[in-house]
Amino acid sequence: MIDKTVNFKGKKIALCVTGSISAYKSISLASEWTQKGASVHVLLTESAKKFVGKATFEGITHNKVTDSLWDNNSDSNIDHLDISKTADIIAIVPATANIISKIARGACDDIISTTVIATTKPVLIAPAMDGNMYDHFAVKTNIDTLKENGVIIMEPEEGYLASGSFGKGRLQDLGNISNEINRILGIENELKDIKILVSAGGTKEPIDSVRYIGNRSSGKMGHLIAEEGLMRGADVTLVSSSNLVTASKINKISVETAEEMAREIKTRVKDADCIIMAAAVSDFTPEIKVDRKIKKQSGKNLELNLKQTPDILKSIQKNNCIKVGFAAETENHLNNGIDKLKAKNLDMVVINDVSSKKIGFESDYNQVKMITKDGNISSTEIEPKRVIAGKILDELSKIIK
Ligand code: CTP
Repeated sequence: MIDKTVNFKGKKIALCVTGSISAYKSISLASEWTQKGASVHVLLTESAKKFVGKATFEGITHNKVTDSLWDNNSDSNIDHLDISKTADIIAIVPATANIISKIARGACDDIISTTVIATTKPVLIAPAMDGNMYDHFAVKTNIDTLKENGVIIMEPEEGYLASGSFGKGRLQDLGNISNEINRILGIENELKDIKILVSAGGTKEPIDSVRYIGNRSSGKMGHLIAEEGLMRGADVTLVSSSNLVTASKINKISVETAEEMAREIKTRVKDADCIIMAAAVSDFTPEIKVDRKIKKQSGKNLELNLKQTPDILKSIQKNNCIKVGFAAETENHLNNGIDKLKAKNLDMVVINDVSSKKIGFESDYNQVKMITKDGNISSTEIEPKRVIAGKILDELSKIIK
């Protein structure tokens, strides 16, 4: 990334608006992006026009609105193909359950679905609908399909909904949407052909055939690092214990235990230019795994003997591989992080505070300090994990250069 604040300048954004009550909010986005120097081309569905008018968008963006497959304005006279090629990004804000379903299935019967199917450019979708609709299995499945195919989903927020109820379905904060667009517009192919190995999630150490020792890591941070790597052109392998949906271009290897993770990492690191260990690997595992359910015995405690698991990151001895580790800390963050950087011979350590409820495990937000081997320290604010993933890869790119 070259410029972190003004990536809008000179860029072409196709802003696709569909028929949600929050369509009025897209007017502010069109205005903001135009003021920041982007050429914003608005596409409206028939339903969107029931909520917002063409004249508003044309007045704000100084560009003709496209609202039909048949009323073409472009030089080629085929607007959906023209927009799909010339836009730097296609943003569907707000996106209804209907447009999400059409794109997931490949239907093309309106200007927006037809433009999206024809594009190879980044597509960002910000859904907005009533809570029950967003929770519906069909919507969930469609969203997963989009994620698997590399569409960036800006999940709706929980809050007051137009129906009067409270739930998840409210359009994501406009500031977050703009930041994400700005960030994507600034992404370059700087990791092209670099082979990145990422680990994610908390391992599960079996006690018996039904119980395990685990931790609260969701795997979100590692998965987003993998996705960011892919967006920057890297060849990404992800060893993960999390069942989060992953873009299908990422080579995902599913594991459960620390032992399985160690085995996969050991094999795959041979080909990697860089390893980022975001996984919360259990430090201990039961010495004996019982392969049936242990029955409780009246009045008796169960004693478990735990043995240490090997330190995967520390054991990697490959000189031509950049090593990035995480330091999950609850106290003494900086010193503990620096100790891990040295002890595990890392090129960079990413320190995060896992005691705070607002960030870290399970949360969609994080705040980290990154320390490189040469002593450079950079800190982030509390930001969405996708943004943090981007910042980690920015630092990695500097090391690689
Ligand atoms: N790690 C690893 N293998 C382990 C334990 C940790 O590769 N058996 C990696 C983690 O993925 C992370 C880094 O080492 O990148 C630091 O992990 P963390 O849990 O913060 O610290 P530990 O080294 O386990 O030490 P402690 O739990 O005492 O803080």
